[in-house]
Amino acid sequence: MLRTLLRLVFALFVLAALLVVGLVVWVNSTYQRDFSATPLPDIHASQDPAVIAQGQYLVEAVAHCSECHRPAYYVRKRQPSADPTDLRGGYAFRAGPFGTFYAANLSSDAQTGIGAWSDGQLARVIRHGVDRNGHFAVFMALSIGALSDQDLTAVISYLRTLPPTKNAVPGDRWGFAAKVLAHFYKPHDEPRLQHVPPGGLSVERGRYLANGPAGCYTCHSARNPFHGFAIEGPRFAGNPQPEPDEADAKFELVAPNLSSDPVGRTGQWSEDKFVARFKMGVTLRGTHMPWESFQRMREDDLRSIYRYLRSVPKVSNDLGPSRRLAGWKR
Ligand code: HEC
Ligand code: HEC
Repeated sequence: MLRTLLRLVFALFVLAALLVVGLVVWVNSTYQRDFSATPLPDIHASQDPAVIAQGQYLVEAVAHCSECHRPAYYVRKRQPSADPTDLRGGYAFRAGPFGTFYAANLSSDAQTGIGAWSDGQLARVIRHGVDRNGHFAVFMALSIGALSDQDLTAVISYLRTLPPTKNAVPGDRWGFAAKVLAHFYKPHDEPRLQHVPPGGLSVERGRYLANGPAGCYTCHSARNPFHGFAIEGPRFAGNPQPEPDEADAKFELVAPNLSSDPVGRTGQWSEDKFVARFKMGVTLRGTHMPWESFQRMREDDLRSIYRYLRSVPKVSNDLGPSRRLAGWKR
């Protein structure tokens, strides 16, 4: 009797162990899904100097590509790069159990940069988060807002002017958590926004920037990891999920509510205070908010963003202080 019971327990144990091993093997062999059927957008680089200049403004300020793709040393130091045209990449984003992701080399070098890739391949990773091999590009998928065709063209036109810099960047190293969650991912296709050209001060321009190239909502909204990290709930209501303060692990940061509710930043701040905060640049060394780039935004664009944020429905979502001791509870 006892022996039968022991045999049963042992058999169950072996079965459970096999299941776990099987699951791990399955996740490891299937996480890298094939999204190569995602069409390459019909976008072509232009040599028009005005388009290139608009692209530079997007890359270095609004769309904050340079925040992540400048040389690793400057990303680490949260300092402006000595040469803003040097986007050799290489910075390692260490995301704990999700893995380590390396910012690509955006220079025109044919071997280590983007020199050999087509305009369509570049446009696809920026718009859909699908890389040149048809794979899910985690950071690109989750941190870039929808760009209009005009602005996507401008960004790629500017990238084509960058001088070649040799810098071989390692491939991403996916952690187990990311491999599991990759199964819930679908390449995103944000509704294309109506392009609102620069130069005017308006709620419409602010709406386009905050939901488009500046991507404010990508961090300032809640996300559901089991829906491919899709935004859940109202945009700009803040992200309750804290992140470690990269400068001091004893602290954590949350991206606050930006609505005009009394607990939201545009409810608490005047337009001038909002602009002044952006002009100050980085104050917390361990933050992910791309202050370095946003500091370069034109004043009319900042004012447009403020006016738009004032116009989004108020949400009284009080997330507490943006920086607090890790594990903070109300
Ligand atoms: C938050 C950081 C971040 C921002 C902002 C960012 N990138 Fe990236 N980018 C990455 C990382 C990390 C990778 C490596 C793949 C991945 O994890 O997405 C990458 C990969 C790429 C690639 C290579 C894709 C491939 O096929 O291998 C291109 C091209 C690119 N980024 C262009 C841009 C452009 C243009 C912008 C601005 C519109 C931008 N990135 C903004 C972090 C960023
Ligand atoms: C990559 C993530 C990310 C993006 C993109 C982002 N933010 Fe933030 N933001 C944060 C985090 C994290 C904080 C809290 C830490 C800090 O203040 O730096 C923050 C803080 C803020 C604050 C409060 C600053 C203070 O001093 O209290 C404002 C205002 C703000 N963001 C507005 C914006 C606007 C407007 C945009 C788009 C133009 C934007 N953010 C884009 C992550 C982000």
